[in-house]
Amino acid sequence: MTIAENRITNRKELLIARAKERIEDLHRLQKAGLICKHGDFFPSVHYPPITMYSPITEEELFEGYTLPEDGLFDIYAHIPFCRQRCIFCHYPVQLGERDPEKDQYLDALEKEMDIYMRRLGIDKIKARSILVGGGTPTYLTLEQLDRFLNFFVQRVDLSTCTQFNYDVDPVTLIGAEGRERLRLMRSYGVDRLTIGIQSLNEDILKRMNRHHGIKEALASIENAKEFGYQVNIEFIYGYPGETLDNWMEVMEHAVSLGTEEIQLYRLKIEAYGDFQGPIKRLSEREEKGQYQLPTVEETLMMKQLAIDILNENGYHENLRRVFTKERKHYSHYADNQCCGLLDQLGFGLTAFSSLRNRFVLNTQNFDEYYSQIAAGKMPLNRGITRTKEEQISWAIILPLKNRCVWKNYFEKVTGGVSLNHVFRNKIEKLKSFGLITEDEQKIELTKLGAFFADEVAQQFHHPNYIPFSREQYEHGPLYPYDDCEF
Ligand SMILES: C[S@@+](CC[C@H](N)C(=O)[O-])C[C@H]1O[C@@H](n2cnc3c(N)ncnc32)[C@H](O)[C@@H]1O
Ligand code: SF4
Repeated sequence: MTIAENRITNRKELLIARAKERIEDLHRLQKAGLICKHGDFFPSVHYPPITMYSPITEEELFEGYTLPEDGLFDIYAHIPFCRQRCIFCHYPVQLGERDPEKDQYLDALEKEMDIYMRRLGIDKIKARSILVGGGTPTYLTLEQLDRFLNFFVQRVDLSTCTQFNYDVDPVTLIGAEGRERLRLMRSYGVDRLTIGIQSLNEDILKRMNRHHGIKEALASIENAKEFGYQVNIEFIYGYPGETLDNWMEVMEHAVSLGTEEIQLYRLKIEAYGDFQGPIKRLSEREEKGQYQLPTVEETLMMKQLAIDILNENGYHENLRRVFTKERKHYSHYADNQCCGLLDQLGFGLTAFSSLRNRFVLNTQNFDEYYSQIAAGKMPLNRGITRTKEEQISWAIILPLKNRCVWKNYFEKVTGGVSLNHVFRNKIEKLKSFGLITEDEQKIELTKLGAFFADEVAQQFHHPNYIPFSREQYEHGPLYPYDDCEF
């Protein structure tokens, strides 16, 4: 073996040895009751979890609601069309070209914005930040994309907007048409792109049923950079066929691409929402050979390997799961939602709105979406007005998971509740396990806590909202059903 080969082998062994330490943490924290016995995870994205809401009417949603003092909203628009179904994807989307239906959808989306504005008593929405997602929101013809952006910006005051983001797949950004899309979006003020790269391994991309290979993924990143976008690229780890070795290669390749942000997702097999994607069925059935999942231990090792490779190359965790070289690069939309707990409006199928103590989810059914809007109604599916107690939990769970909890801000958001008085037992126990730190101003996750951020955040859930049942956790000091505040 040459000296260079020897160095590579030693480095790899070192990285793997470090990643193995996480397995010890996993087992220790399972015994303590923090992580469930089977090791699966549940993402703390909203509180309470969105599957647990009941139907809600427009009247209930807006009863007693007043506009934010500064009049600002973060805005989300959803476009649920894709070329083909990715195996891991749990989102309800329409597949194939369907240009006439896309036109119908855009008609409805435009009307929905008007219905919402009428309800709020405003004729323009002052944007704090914007996110357009899907589906593949760029999977529209150039004319449709232009039309969408045109009616959207007519209804939105962009002068207050700090970031205009699109979540995209690589294919719509390449070739002459892709470049024209990039130019068009830029001309409307879009300045950040989150590109779903998912993997840089040809075999894994095929197993995911992605409609692009490595070449297209790389071309999309180059094009996006050339047009001056801030670029975030997303990856999934723990996917069938991924090994420690090929995952390390993917991450080494990712850090060489010079994007501002790299985002990691652990494969979620069980849907978080209502629609179950193909991955569960395939990994359970005869296709198992092809869809054999890495173990929980291997998956967590992949996460640690990625973190080490990212850190070595100057990328550090900024907003949770997003690694950046500079602190200023992150999703404003996600930060405002999860840390600022600020008001946001969502338009389109499955979109959600968060209005201080209320949260509402649009329908996931296309026909219902069209018919509700045709009748001049908001296409609501379900929602919640949080009780005072639920609001207190929400105000710690989301900021703690995603950045940190500022004590003064917590007090402001909860109408005077002090973090020095609530959740004391939980906080002290989490501190004793080295999962969080606390000072006069704030509470935040340690590196270990950040690694298991969802599970730490779930310590603050009400027993009705803990993701796994009582018998699925060991009854250790961090048993989530003990010491619940409310
Ligand atoms: C809202 S999705 C839309 C992505 C975009 N349509 C695309 O395909 O590139 C955003 C990201 O969530 C991640 N994701 C989607 N389904 C997932 C799953 N089942 N498990 C883990 N991550 C997932 C993927 O990395 C994806 O890029
Ligand atoms: S992952 Fe993205 S491109 Fe694939 S089906 Fe889901 S929304 Fe569409």
